[in-house]
Amino acid sequence: MIWDVVVLGAGAAGLMAAATAGQGGARVLVLDHGPEPGRKILISGGGRCNFTHMDTSPNCFLSQNRHFARSALARYTPKNFLELVERHRIAWHEKAKGQLFCDGSARQIVEMLVSEAHDAGCTLWMDTRITDVEREGEEFRVVTDHAEIRTRKVILATGGLSIPKLGASDLSLRLAKRFGLKLVETAPALVPLILADADPSLAGVSLNVAARGHGKAARFEDGMVFTHRGLSGPAILQASSYMEAGKPVEIDLLPGRDVFQMLLDIKKARPKALPPSLLEALPSRLAKELASDLGDVMLANQPDRQLKALAERVSRWTFLPAGTEGYAKAEVMRGGIDTRGLSSQTMEARDVPGLYAIGEAVDVTGWLGGHNFQWAWASGVAAGKAA
Ligand code: FDA
Repeated sequence: MIWDVVVLGAGAAGLMAAATAGQGGARVLVLDHGPEPGRKILISGGGRCNFTHMDTSPNCFLSQNRHFARSALARYTPKNFLELVERHRIAWHEKAKGQLFCDGSARQIVEMLVSEAHDAGCTLWMDTRITDVEREGEEFRVVTDHAEIRTRKVILATGGLSIPKLGASDLSLRLAKRFGLKLVETAPALVPLILADADPSLAGVSLNVAARGHGKAARFEDGMVFTHRGLSGPAILQASSYMEAGKPVEIDLLPGRDVFQMLLDIKKARPKALPPSLLEALPSRLAKELASDLGDVMLANQPDRQLKALAERVSRWTFLPAGTEGYAKAEVMRGGIDTRGLSSQTMEARDVPGLYAIGEAVDVTGWLGGHNFQWAWASGVAAGKAA
């Protein structure tokens, strides 16, 4: 028997592509080496799956080709996915602006996708090790530890490298390379940072900051939390996607405030106070640390240039990360299969008819907040329709 479509990976993008192709009449087989489908969906959004972001746009993604995601995102929108969620009577709520989560459990999203795939006649083989994929004339031969399979189309949907203990692997990257596609260098993204001189006494301290990565990165104003090894929280995770090794990171600890003026005002109002009270707007443990250079000299005797230097340290807190927590803790991988080798309409490899690549394996990496799933759904639908 020859399958019409074999999807490698029963994750977010693969299940969506399979259901879509099945609904179009294709005979679809989904292969996955894990014990159950959608394992990353199950742990996503703290177990409630932040399944989309209503305001997604190509600007919310990193890629060497910023325009690549535009077509798929426009043809399958957050509203389309929300309609599917509502058709399956899954209750949801908007947590932060645009970020939609299940009221109940992320498992509802997996069950929805699996039932869509089953209703569309797709076959799922879990616990299946894929050992090889080869082109044979107009078809592909997919070799697994269970069987050798022939198919007209193959969709690479095995995701990125983050969270290896959940079955992440480089299969799609390896196969893409073997079929002549180029790869964009990969790295952990949406990942906590490690500081060489992390102060364990600050662990747990959290505050709102503005963090910016390197290059033309956006500025992310959101929460930051000190960990035992460094820094985490949404502002840090977002900025981490844009960070380059060996370059210092700059964080504004009191975004939107004229800190020097604030310090001058406090000095005037409370001349007998000690330096940490200058930074009452910050968590006290952090304020103490930042103001330690000023010693135990009361504010009246602190020269304004000292306050200026302190204001600078607060607004432009600069440090060189010792590294990141790596793929073990990264929410996603950045980089991946170079989009220049793929059609942005269909996700098909330009030079390998019948081979498609979708989801996180492709060099399209979203911001935090549901953008990565929206890309998985949209790229899955684009490939599923075309295949
Ligand atoms: P995905 O990883 O979903 O699926 C890949 C599948 O391929 C898996 O089933 C895997 O078992 C299988 N596979 C891998 N290698 C294989 C091999 N060699 N052989 C066979 N099968 C193989 N995003 C978001 O938008 N909102 C959120 O709330 C979150 N939350 C979140 C939390 C955490 C902790 C993580 C790690 C990630 C998120 N994400 C997220 C990111 C999101 O989970 C991710 O971007 C998508 O799941 C990517 O979908 P894919 O289908 O591409 O890969």
